[in-house]
Amino acid sequence: MKVLISPNFKDMYEPNLEIKQFPDGDTYTRIPQIEECKGEDVILLHRLYPEQNTKLMELIFLLEALKKAKSIVLIAPYLPYSRQDKLFKQGEVKSAEIICSLLREKGIEKLITFDCHFLKKEGEFEYGGLKIKNISLNKEMAEHAKEYLGEEFEVISPDQGASYLVEEFGGESMKKVRGEYNEGGEAYRTIEKMEFSGDVKGKNILIMDDMISTGSTMFKAIENLQKAGAKKILCASTHGFFLKDSLKKLKETGVFVSDTIPSEVSEVSIKKIIEKIIKGEE
Ligand code: R5P
Repeated sequence: MKVLISPNFKDMYEPNLEIKQFPDGDTYTRIPQIEECKGEDVILLHRLYPEQNTKLMELIFLLEALKKAKSIVLIAPYLPYSRQDKLFKQGEVKSAEIICSLLREKGIEKLITFDCHFLKKEGEFEYGGLKIKNISLNKEMAEHAKEYLGEEFEVISPDQGASYLVEEFGGESMKKVRGEYNEGGEAYRTIEKMEFSGDVKGKNILIMDDMISTGSTMFKAIENLQKAGAKKILCASTHGFFLKDSLKKLKETGVFVSDTIPSEVSEVSIKKIIEKIIKGEE
C-alpha cells in the first residue's frame, strides 16, 4: 500500500507529491514515486478546499498519473460543491453529483470525507456512482466543547439538515428558511427566517453545524438563543470557511472548528482518524 500526501496536507504529514503552478497559473503535478504505485493500493490525501476548482484540477491530473494503480482511496476532508445537490430553478445542475461522477470516472474506488453536506448522516454510501465513507465529527466536537462549557450543556443545530449531528445528544434543531437568490453576481440565498421554540433559558448551549460559510446561519442562531435567554453560547462546526469577517464576529461569542479546513480556530483534529484509516482500522 502506498500513501501519497499532497502539499496541502503539510499541517499533518510530510508531503511526497509535487504540486506547483506554471507562471500563467496552469497546474503542474508530479508523483515522483509513480513506478512504486503500479499495481498497488493507493491512499491519496488531498484537500479540495480552499481554491476548490484548482484543487479539483490537481486531483484529476494526479488520478491520471495513477491509472496503473490497483485501487485509489481519496481522503478529502471537505468535498466542495456538496451543497448543490438539489435543483431550485430550471436550467441549474446538481454539481454535487457531477463532481462525484467525475471522481468515479477518474478511477477513485472510494472517497473518505467528513460531514458531507448532502449525506446528512455517518456511514457508507454511493452517490453519483461513487462510494463514499462519511465520518461525522459530532462526538469529537461535543467532547471538545466541554473545555469551554463544562459538562452541563445542550447541543442545538441551526437547521434541520444538521439535525443528525445533535440527535444523539438529545438536541433540537432550529428551522431555517432560505429565500430567493440575491440579485447580482453572487449565488447566495439569504436566510428569510429561522424559528426555534426550545427552552434554553439559563442554559449553556453548543450550536453545531456541518459548515460555517458566511456565518449568517450562526449569527441568526445566536440571536435566537440570546433572545430566548441562553447563558453561554458556543459555536462549533466541522468545516470552517469563515468568509468575509465572520470569524472575527463569531470569536466574540466563541467558536471552534476541525482541521478539515485549517484555520486559527481549528481545535478538533482529524489526524487520529486518518491514522486509523491508513492502518486499516477505520
Ligand atoms: C446549510 O444548510 C449548512 O448546513 C450551513 O448551515 C450553511 O451552509 C452555512 O452557511 P452560512 O455560514 O453562509 O450561513
